[in-house]
Amino acid sequence: MLDYRIIRKISAIGAACAATFAMVGILSRGVAEVPRVMAEAKMDHKTPGYSADVAPILNKNCGSCHSAAQHKSGLVIESYSALMKGGRHGQVILPHDAKASRLIRMIEGEDDPQMPFESDPLSAAEIAILKSWVNAGAPGPAGNEVAAIVKTPATPDIRPEVNVISPVTSVRFSPDGKLLAVGGYKQVRIIEPASGSLRATLSGHADYVRSIAFSPDGTLIAAAGGEPQSQGEIRIWSVESHQLIKTLQGHKDCIYSIAWSPDGKTIASGSYDRMVKLWDVATGKELFNLQDHIDAVFAVAFSPDGKRLASASQDRTVKIWNVATGRRLYTLSDASDGLTGVAYSSSGREVAAAGYDKTIYVWRVAEEDGHLSQSLIADEDSVLALAWSPDGKAIVTASSDGSIRFRDAATLNPISVIDKQPDWVQALSISPDGKWLAAGRYDGSLSLYDVTSYKELRAPMMVFDLKQPSNGKTSKEAAGR
Ligand code: HEC
Repeated sequence: MLDYRIIRKISAIGAACAATFAMVGILSRGVAEVPRVMAEAKMDHKTPGYSADVAPILNKNCGSCHSAAQHKSGLVIESYSALMKGGRHGQVILPHDAKASRLIRMIEGEDDPQMPFESDPLSAAEIAILKSWVNAGAPGPAGNEVAAIVKTPATPDIRPEVNVISPVTSVRFSPDGKLLAVGGYKQVRIIEPASGSLRATLSGHADYVRSIAFSPDGTLIAAAGGEPQSQGEIRIWSVESHQLIKTLQGHKDCIYSIAWSPDGKTIASGSYDRMVKLWDVATGKELFNLQDHIDAVFAVAFSPDGKRLASASQDRTVKIWNVATGRRLYTLSDASDGLTGVAYSSSGREVAAAGYDKTIYVWRVAEEDGHLSQSLIADEDSVLALAWSPDGKAIVTASSDGSIRFRDAATLNPISVIDKQPDWVQALSISPDGKWLAAGRYDGSLSLYDVTSYKELRAPMMVFDLKQPSNGKTSKEAAGR
């Protein structure tokens, strides 16, 4: 059912952390582990040890899809305790019984699909090591080591290139277009797009900030993300004072997308936990849990009148909801693969979505039903982000083929393309006046484009490298006023 594009795409979207932090983890573990490995080796020459023998095989071959950030099928392989906990279908390792252990059965091809998914099987030697370790009782790491992923690149032995700059995972213009909020690892940075200067850093978020929304009056900013496999969070900040106002919690996995209703009263969120939630901004309470998607929800959008919500999912569907009642109205199921982006036209009469099947779908949406009005294979690879211009005339997509494409929303004919992007563009936002496009990339860079000339306004910024206005003070006074 799943195909490998989904996985590649998921690695493109939220999980920049998987690759970067896995790398950091392996390096720092490599350094810290020497004495422990020796201890294990002394203990028993025949039984493979977890740290010395098993973890390296699993990290190398399985980590890209079974990390804290990816957790395909719910399985995290990067620590002993997570591995023993198992996946969506329960334990994958039954100590002393390799034959019955699902992990072993899957690497040997006895259970489908064979792991590692869509790539070469492990070598016979590697399989033998894992089997003999399981048959020896799958002993944990020596001592009380927790071979968990190391998230802070703090060890002095780490080379500078590992001191990673966060990818840009979300970006949003303020309603007046004067500010740009950029989300990355545990932070939101507010910059002035005109000058490129940093106004504030909002810190303390759990993991990546995967989506940002401003209140329609521009006074509040909501930043969403959360700890994969644990809980989603939405933090609401004052734009003026940079104070945290409240935190909304309830999702059981990280949030990929949020939207603020046009009347300012409601926030919608879509999560990896397959749920869509509507929140009351004033009380911080959950109003409705919209439960109907059968896989991760990657995008949500309100209709311009605020009465409808569209949600797009890995399950290949867009669902249209009644915001007042929380009732699902209908499902648009034309896509042949997971959907990463969804947007309403400015008239509210159409909804567009795109994702891994490289296709833009546009539906005419009525009260009780919607019909596909057009679709086009628009990009050469998965669509990572989609936006509809505020005047309703253009649909913009960013694809892992390295392009940002502008298309006529009425015909889907190409208007312009900005290609040769230095890295995947995962986050797009068009300024409310429709003049600028902000594009945030996996490599941590952010570019602003003039939408009339399609030229870059200035050199790309490394947003998470920008200096604070002064020693951490981020108020107006620090900005020199
Ligand atoms: C390219 C991505 C990818 C890689 C690499 C990968 N897996 Fe998987 N894994 C998946 C996907 C997708 C599923 C869900 C398959 C399904 O249910 O159809 C899965 C499911 C599993 C499951 C079942 C978990 C459960 O409870 O449902 C096990 C066990 C597993 N993988 C082990 C491994 C091991 C061991 C490796 C490395 C040798 C590995 N995987 C490498 C993508 C991957």
